[in-house]
Amino acid sequence: MAVQRLATDNKQKGRLAHLADNSEAYSLWAQSFSTVSETLKEFSSVQVTLEKLLQILPVLQPRPYSISSSPFNDPNKVQITVSVAEYLTPDNTKRKGLCSNFLQVVKTSSKIRLFVNPNPHFRLPGQVAPTKKTDDDNSSRATINTRLLMFAVGSGIAPFRSFWEEIVALNECGNPEPNIDRMLFFGCRTPNDFLYHGELKKLSQDKLITDLVPAFSRLKEGEKRYVQNEMMLHDQKIYSMITDNNAYIYMCGSAAACMAIEKTLAMILESRHYTNLTFGEAKEWIKKLKKSGRIQLEMFG
Ligand SMILES: Cc1cc2nc3c(=O)[nH]c(=O)nc-3n(C[C@H](O)[C@H](O)[C@H](O)COP(=O)(O)OP(=O)(O)OC[C@H]3O[C@@H](n4cnc5c(N)ncnc54)[C@H](O)[C@@H]3O)c2cc1C
Ligand SMILES: NC(=O)c1ccc[n+]([C@@H]2O[C@H](COP(=O)([O-])OP(=O)(O)OC[C@H]3O[C@@H](n4cnc5c(N)ncnc54)[C@H](OP(=O)(O)O)[C@@H]3O)[C@@H](O)[C@H]2O)c1
Repeated sequence: MAVQRLATDNKQKGRLAHLADNSEAYSLWAQSFSTVSETLKEFSSVQVTLEKLLQILPVLQPRPYSISSSPFNDPNKVQITVSVAEYLTPDNTKRKGLCSNFLQVVKTSSKIRLFVNPNPHFRLPGQVAPTKKTDDDNSSRATINTRLLMFAVGSGIAPFRSFWEEIVALNECGNPEPNIDRMLFFGCRTPNDFLYHGELKKLSQDKLITDLVPAFSRLKEGEKRYVQNEMMLHDQKIYSMITDNNAYIYMCGSAAACMAIEKTLAMILESRHYTNLTFGEAKEWIKKLKKSGRIQLEMFG
């Protein structure tokens, strides 16, 4: 609207008014993810000073990143795991994500502005002070040795890195124990994108992670393997970890992937349950697990 008023060409004014009033037209136009300078080129009759432009533009939003390290290792350092966002628009223009590309090039000596926003829920079991009364008796009995089902997709591996750093650091004092079911599914494109592979291999050898299940989506032409596909191959174990062992379940990654993983969990509960559980009932079960805090999600994208 503000830009529309600054256009001097009537045709461009009309087009801007149409984009301001019609959300469908705006979405279609925005699919090309026009930058400010491209927008100003497209609507060249817009007369605006830099000062005015800065008043009109919305404030740059902060980008959240999960902490990928444990303070037990170094209380003065915080590590993050960042996927550098690059993508093509529908008209094949290459675009780069602002913050992730900045982080890729920023010099180690530079100071950057950041703040910490604690997440009281996405924490290892037993590490969370109960904040609300739950209807799941087991949640209050969770300890650092509670079974873990972890689902990571792409940069969604980030918070799990802090989990295992914490597990390794605490294990040096004898607790958490090895050989407790801790299952980590990790979906990425190819083995080249298998982040922290070395650390995870060592954790597997030390039995601090008992099952490491990668899902490579672009290993073979025409054969996509997602976390969901691998889950179905381990459905019995997942089922018994949830039902017999009261495992805690964590998911992190894109919203689409987390929703698909949640659906697959419901499918496993439905198909493996000893009664004729319907899919709707399985979904209700998942809902209850979420409410009780036994399922934690961190979604983005
Ligand atoms: C709670 C939370 C935790 C997060 N933790 C992490 C983390 O640990 N590690 C991490 O890497 N990221 C994490 N993110 C995502 C992160 O905050 C940023 O969104 C991400 O780094 C992109 O920011 P950017 O500034 O580089 O991209 P931007 O400049 O914001 O560009 C992203 C824009 O590009 C679009 N886009 C991105 N990819 C495509 C594509 N393939 N096709 C079309 N459009 C696309 C998006 O819709 C978006 O509008 C987290 C997000 C949340 C909400
Ligand atoms: N080598 C590279 O250049 C490279 C590698 C990784 C990431 N990146 C960049 O980093 C950004 C984010 O990367 P990321 O690592 O967080 O995620 P990502 O690489 O985009 O996705 C992680 C994995 O999730 C899969 N996936 C996609 N949709 C899914 C769904 N519905 N359910 C389950 N799995 C699904 C992807 O498969 P498919 O994508 O094969 O469908 C991929 O194997 C992207 O913008 C990307 O451009 C680049």
